[in-house]
Amino acid sequence: MEAIMGVWLRPSLWVAVRLKLPDLLAGGRRTLDQLAAETSTDRAALFRLLNALSSVGVFKRVDDRAYESTAISELLRSDNPSGLANLVDISLGGENYLAWSSLIDAIRAGGCAFDIHHGVNWVDYLRDHADRHATFAAAMTATTRASEQAVLDAHDFGQFELAVDIGGSHASLIGRLLDRHPSARGVVFDLPETVATSRVAWAGEPFAPRLQAVGGDFFNAVPEGDLYLLKMILHDWQDAEAAAILKTIRSSIRPDGRIAIIETILPNDGSPHTGWGLDMAMMATTGGRERTRAEHERLFAEAGFEAIGCTPTPSMYSVLEARPV
Ligand SMILES: C[S@@+](CC[C@H](N)C(=O)[O-])C[C@H]1O[C@@H](n2cnc3c(N)ncnc32)[C@H](O)[C@@H]1O
Repeated sequence: MEAIMGVWLRPSLWVAVRLKLPDLLAGGRRTLDQLAAETSTDRAALFRLLNALSSVGVFKRVDDRAYESTAISELLRSDNPSGLANLVDISLGGENYLAWSSLIDAIRAGGCAFDIHHGVNWVDYLRDHADRHATFAAAMTATTRASEQAVLDAHDFGQFELAVDIGGSHASLIGRLLDRHPSARGVVFDLPETVATSRVAWAGEPFAPRLQAVGGDFFNAVPEGDLYLLKMILHDWQDAEAAAILKTIRSSIRPDGRIAIIETILPNDGSPHTGWGLDMAMMATTGGRERTRAEHERLFAEAGFEAIGCTPTPSMYSVLEARPV
């Protein structure tokens, strides 16, 4: 019943974030009339939205017609360093949410619900929608930020001179890695349009003088390095494309180099794991998939790598390392 009745929560949360209600309430108590005026919304409809979200702790209803922020709404402010507002914005409404309505077609025929629903794949869609592209990049930073400490604490990336973060978006992970390796240099590699916004995101950070941003296509060529990070990259793609990305890296990696795949690793049996839900999200949006450790290792072998090891972390990610053979 919770799964069925909870259907209202996600789009309602999305609307609250889109209307920037968490930002408005950050300044202190606000009346319904003030909020309706500030968001240009229907007063009676907004009243119902605020009450529903207050009932699950997103906001706090303080008297008959006034509201205050809560710890949850603070997290959803557009300026909160967690970046979670962007994750809500990109995941719980709009084009991605619509794509789920074609999930049954993807299950019946195979393929990706987003492509079936919108007639265009996710990467091309973002290329044509600069504002959504910016929100997506910020949402990715939010997911990385929530886990990078755990990943970097749990896994020793060893010695390296030049790390390349493939599909590194706004460089959150490689930035933190460079912080811990003060003599190493790095490259954040991503699509040219992402790289343009990436440079702005980390300008002025202590690691910035040691980080270069390079735009390109990981199906064609990637920069040379001795440590390659791929966080949530392979899971965006089917096996043929995932192997093709690894082969591009294989042709640029230094002989003594390593790749580190940071992904959710599916269990071999059906035991409960965050990866199962993420796997459905990949079917709905990017057309990719989550994989077991053995499935990753098959991709390594196909692209000319051999697995070195796998480090679980307290986050939902594990770090799978491989070297060229
Ligand atoms: C799921 S995001 C992961 C971002 C980041 N690694 C993280 O974990 O936060 C996938 C990234 O791959 C990038 N990307 C997609 N296609 C690409 C391509 N053909 N060449 C280079 N980067 C690409 C996207 O722009 C995006 O930043």
